[in-house]
Amino acid sequence: MDDLERAQDILARAERITVLTGAGISAESGVPTFRGAGGLWENHRPEELATPQAFARDPELVWRWYHWRRGLIARCRPNPAHRALVALERCTPRFTLITQNVDGLHQAAGSRQVLPIHGSIWHLRCTACGTVREDRRLDLPALPTCDDCGGLLRPDVVWFGESLDPELLQRAWQAAHQAEVMLVVGTSAVVQPAAGLAQVAHEAGAAVIEVNLEPTPNSGWVEVVLLGKAGEILPRLVEAL
Ligand code: OAD
Repeated sequence: MDDLERAQDILARAERITVLTGAGISAESGVPTFRGAGGLWENHRPEELATPQAFARDPELVWRWYHWRRGLIARCRPNPAHRALVALERCTPRFTLITQNVDGLHQAAGSRQVLPIHGSIWHLRCTACGTVREDRRLDLPALPTCDDCGGLLRPDVVWFGESLDPELLQRAWQAAHQAEVMLVVGTSAVVQPAAGLAQVAHEAGAAVIEVNLEPTPNSGWVEVVLLGKAGEILPRLVEAL
């Protein structure tokens, strides 16, 4: 039995599957990843763009980056990897998809049980009154403001140094803890607390299957490592189910 067949076999027996995705799953849709060749952090310093301090110092600079990313992501469509996870959800009694991605492509593909633990680039939050609204407009003002109170809006995403939504994180932790199988796709597994979720599942007895172009810090202890493109591997992984 090769690794792909082993992973298929593990998935076929499982009733409780939790998936954790990162930027790599959207790479084939055209969304740049953060790390690695061509990654977003190659040309930008995270501390200049994705921190509350950066936003306080220069909101226009931070917003320019987000206007650019929203425009880019708006042109991207779900790829076969996103669609394979929709199919996997349909045939799994208890399924949770935890994503670090803010692009909304899992939801666009049709995934239902999604925990977007790093937020969404399509939701804006008022820095004054806290109201969060979906807003997909690509012609926002350079510094968008709140309809209710006139306060400055920011993307409703998690920046470095900020905490994740405690309720979402709790649900993600629970889904990891209760999983029989945890499928980890396209994440460099270096940003906490998301990176620790695979470990939570592993320690609770789940089989962890990793899909990535290259080995990650988790590769040494997971059950199966499948090296390659998510858009090629995931459809093959679920086709047999
Ligand atoms: P990274 O950019 O750190 O890692 C992307 C991973 O995807 C790498 O391990 C690549 O090898 C892999 N990869 C790239 N293309 C792939 C493909 N076609 N198929 C399979 N794997 C592929 O992205 P994340 O791990 O998601 O957080 O980064 C985690 C967090 O760091 C992000 O959510 C973001 C960032 O800072 C915040 O902004 C809070």
